[in-house]
Amino acid sequence: MAQIIKVLKGTKDILPQDVDMWQFVEEKAQKIFGAYGFKEIRTPIIEVTDLFSRGVGDTTDIVNKEMYTFEKSERSITLRPENTAGVVRSYIENGMARLSAPVKLWYKGPMFRYERPQAGRQRQFHQVGVEMFGIKQPAADAEVIMSAVDFLKSIGLNDLEVEINSLGCPKCRAEFKEKLKSVLRPYLNDLCEDCQNRYEKNPLRLLDCKVEDCQKIYSKPEIQKVIMSDFLCDECREHYTELKSYLDAMGVKYSENKLLVRGLDYYTRTVFEIKSNNLGSQNAVCGGGRYDGLVSQLGGEDTPAVGFAMGMERLISLLPEKNSKKLDGYIVSNNTQEAFKLAQELRNQGCSVEFDLANKKFTKQLEKASKVAQKALILGEDEISNGQVSVKNLETGEQIVVDRKNLKL
Ligand code: HAM
Repeated sequence: MAQIIKVLKGTKDILPQDVDMWQFVEEKAQKIFGAYGFKEIRTPIIEVTDLFSRGVGDTTDIVNKEMYTFEKSERSITLRPENTAGVVRSYIENGMARLSAPVKLWYKGPMFRYERPQAGRQRQFHQVGVEMFGIKQPAADAEVIMSAVDFLKSIGLNDLEVEINSLGCPKCRAEFKEKLKSVLRPYLNDLCEDCQNRYEKNPLRLLDCKVEDCQKIYSKPEIQKVIMSDFLCDECREHYTELKSYLDAMGVKYSENKLLVRGLDYYTRTVFEIKSNNLGSQNAVCGGGRYDGLVSQLGGEDTPAVGFAMGMERLISLLPEKNSKKLDGYIVSNNTQEAFKLAQELRNQGCSVEFDLANKKFTKQLEKASKVAQKALILGEDEISNGQVSVKNLETGEQIVVDRKNLKL
């Protein structure tokens, strides 16, 4: 026998029995984000590599270690590791800046990151997300966070934790980074290799290092004092305070987490995550924030923007399992031609119907019907000659005879 080919490590089939769940989540996304005025956008899965090095940031793990990149016709191409950069590219390229602000877009689809696979972390995973362009006021941040919370509620996830933080603007953040570096300088040789690199390239990321020895250093009082300090400039502080006042007014529960820095470079001011205690170490269901510098960094006009993305596998793993939908009817008949005709009549009415293409014994067909359908539609010789169908409700066992022309499922 030929050798079996298996699915690639870190990727998964979404099997028919699970697809109902995915469609349920996708339909809710369309409904809830639609209710907030977001329109769906579908961008390509492959983009020019530069988009991500310039967009996501070449000091991030995503760009440095995790991208699937290949050459084609002397161009470097990458499977998208996330979709904010792609949506920004499309916003600029399609002149969406000319539309009246805010421009509100939502998306769903596969993303690719070459990470070490574990529970809740795959190499091909799916995100659903939104991006809002053109509004600098914190009401936009609040509306984006509310749309995430509403969407999660709509699929039955009510008890997730919303965490927020402000990373300030490039100006006040630069001062904070310098302060952080100066208190950490004496400990530089004791930090892990990754942190030693981050120290120069991206000192904010030091804060979410998972290595215990690093965390011990970061919890020293003189370092905690800097981490916990309020480094925001007046404008950034006002923005953050106003955002919190909207969330309070709308009854959105959140906590503030000074260590929330996110793994992508484009954020300015607001960042947020939504977490679940039932997910183990990969506990973030949603991550997002404001990225006021990204549109201009990728060649567009200076445009404020804010958005988020959620991991669909993580969302779905939190939902109770649903039974697969049953067919509306299963035709039980040994007359294949008549079964074809009845199936067609019912399918044309929009009903889901199957029958036995192999023309097995009547009893076998009835057994199958009780497994896969809500009703058995019995079409024996008597029913055929009388223009009727015997309809058996497979839940209650009740059976009635109906004129074929009046049959409704
Ligand atoms: P992110 O935090 O990298 O942000 O990803 C968002 C969510 O995608 C995570 O919270 C997680 O649920 C899911 N996710 C990420 N990596 C994996 C993985 N390897 N396996 C399974 N799920 C994963 C972004 O991607 C930003 N583009 C979000 C954003 C939009 N910010 C502003 N607008």
